[in-house]
Amino acid sequence: MKPIKVGVLGLGTVGGGTVNVLKRNAAEIARRAGREIIITRASAKDLTKQRICDTQGIILTTDPLDIINDPEIDIVLELIGGAGAVKDMVLTAIANGKHVVTANKSLIALHGNEIFAKASEQGVIVAFEAAVAGGIPIIKAIREGLSGNRIQWLAGIINGTGNFILTEMRDKGRDFADVLAEAQALGYAEADPTFDVEGIDAAHKLTILASIAFGIPLQFDKVYTEGITQITRTDVEYAEQLGYRIKHLGIARQTPEGIELRVHPTLIPERRLIANVDGVKNAVLVEGDAVGPTLYYGAGAGAEPTASAVVADVIDVVRALTSDPENRVPHLAFQADALADIPLLSSERFKTAYYLRLNAEDKPGVLADVTRILAVHNISIEAIIQKEPSQGETAIPIIMLTQVTLEQKMNAAIAEIEALPTVTGKISRIRLETLG
Ligand code: NDP
Ligand code: HSE
Repeated sequence: MKPIKVGVLGLGTVGGGTVNVLKRNAAEIARRAGREIIITRASAKDLTKQRICDTQGIILTTDPLDIINDPEIDIVLELIGGAGAVKDMVLTAIANGKHVVTANKSLIALHGNEIFAKASEQGVIVAFEAAVAGGIPIIKAIREGLSGNRIQWLAGIINGTGNFILTEMRDKGRDFADVLAEAQALGYAEADPTFDVEGIDAAHKLTILASIAFGIPLQFDKVYTEGITQITRTDVEYAEQLGYRIKHLGIARQTPEGIELRVHPTLIPERRLIANVDGVKNAVLVEGDAVGPTLYYGAGAGAEPTASAVVADVIDVVRALTSDPENRVPHLAFQADALADIPLLSSERFKTAYYLRLNAEDKPGVLADVTRILAVHNISIEAIIQKEPSQGETAIPIIMLTQVTLEQKMNAAIAEIEALPTVTGKISRIRLETLG
């Protein structure tokens, strides 16, 4: 059979890793795909740059359109990133009848609904396994392996850079900026690293996971997003004393009122496997009604782990070329005309437990005032610790864990506690999930 011709847009971390894996494992890949897969063309911005891959035998260009408009190319790999000019490149490739494989979560989260509709019109596939959790085949697992289940919730560490930073800060006491610079040098971080540390990248990924888990259109703008920049060493230490780890989680949960989509630092019991996922590793815990909890773990970023997912998509596309477009695995797991209009909840309607840390004057009655306010809002306390004041400080730190409550009630209680004359500064509030 005629070899499949692939054009690669972008020869950076992921593009370079993909070229390496496709070349190195070519024979094994051909045995799996049933056809030879060859990279005939590739593009990058600066052709004089040193590459991590061998580009011998590949025609190089600085203009992605040379590849997108080449009638010989069967599959375009979009490994540039961003959701601006790249969107037009992908739509043009689709219009030209090419299948597309991308690692670009912002593109899919922001424009996936439009892109998949155009792809379906053209009968082509847009595959995006590498867009979520790097090398972990989580899209395939949810879309195909768990397709008999009603997914109840999922929670994941889905940003490798953020988890790498938190792990290095906790284990080695390293400085935030220093670890972020290392993550950038290792090729883990986004072109704009605020996407990693402010939770935007995780929100892009959660948008995608929620759509394939619950059969809803992609709705990035509805995700509640908090990053890791506000996490302090003090909170990490207190959490550990209480038997918890702080992880940056993306959580999607189906409730009777609607769907919660949230990305934020979260206390999780240290005995949970996911609490022990460190460094650039990612993990996603999925609760299905039939299977119960399943956990997926692996490298969340980096050249070859991500290439592993890109190449798997290329092989899937090749295998699906002979199948009727109507009978392929749907892009978002559910048939395009069967996506549901389930409301996505605002943060005030989230239900979760909390870790609270506040500083109060060391006077009789202070604790009673705080607990009274929580009781008025029907918030039950699970644990409470009063610490000694730090050296030179008069205020005492009070740490509390609450039971599950409505976020709206917690917001009101926090506002009242912060207004007490005996309480100083802002309350540090971190959501807590048992993931049981
Ligand atoms: P890099 O910055 O390492 O690579 C981007 C590549 O695109 C570079 O080769 C660059 O060229 C090329 N490029 C940029 N603009 C143009 C243009 N206008 N025309 C042609 N080529 C262009 O990014 P990554 O490989 O890290 O990321 C690529 C995608 O993969 C992103 O969507 C990212 O979110 C995603 N991703 C990244 C992961 C990772 O671990 N890094 C993991 C999972 C997904 P040049 O090299 O000459 O500058
Ligand atoms: N910047 C991303 C991360 C790359 O660190 O997780 C993988 O999507």
